[in-house]
Amino acid sequence: MAKQIAVLIGSGSKTSFSQLTVRHLQKMAPASIQLNIVEIADLPLYDRDLDENSPAQYTRVREAVSTADGVLFVTPEHNAGISAMLKNAIDVVSRPMGESKWIGKPAGIVTVGASAAGGVRAADQIRTITSGAFVNMPTLPFALNVGNLFGGVFAEDGEIANDALKGSMQNFINTYADFVEKF
Ligand SMILES: Cc1cc2nc3c(=O)[nH]c(=O)nc-3n(C[C@H](O)[C@H](O)[C@H](O)COP(=O)(O)O)c2cc1C
Repeated sequence: MAKQIAVLIGSGSKTSFSQLTVRHLQKMAPASIQLNIVEIADLPLYDRDLDENSPAQYTRVREAVSTADGVLFVTPEHNAGISAMLKNAIDVVSRPMGESKWIGKPAGIVTVGASAAGGVRAADQIRTITSGAFVNMPTLPFALNVGNLFGGVFAEDGEIANDALKGSMQNFINTYADFVEKF
């Protein structure tokens, strides 16, 4: 039975490169894992006053993470960091105090960015966040950073137009699947 991976994507754009990247990874993933997108665009901004009477959207995302065998964080780099949408979801699922659903789940990191380096600074932020006491996830050090987004790495029809990128994506998802197997 495939391990079920919750995929949280930090962009709700209709033309999102993050979502496009995930669609390719879903097709490339080995049979040992299944990538399931968890909708986070509708989460109200985290507010600790809501801990005792959480909105249904909070509960839905917390439960989706709770039942997953691993988590793939996918984010555009926004101003040298992760998107606010993803950070909001991370905060929501880390609370109420003592009820974080993240702890111990094997995490993978995927970023996209306009710069040649992709979202390497966003990837570093996720590594820092997953080291926090209320997130505390074993995290694959090797990330997939899809850069040069507007330089033709994806064709107009959404296909991957760069063989090096295709190889990196396959290598990443295979390595992440092996990492998940260890838990
Ligand atoms: C507010 C904002 C800030 C951005 N900052 C960066 C950045 O720091 N580094 C970078 O490589 N790209 C940056 N970009 C470009 C995005 O990474 C790029 O638009 C990407 O396509 C967004 O992901 P999405 O298509 O999944 O929404 C920024 C874009 C926006 C809208």
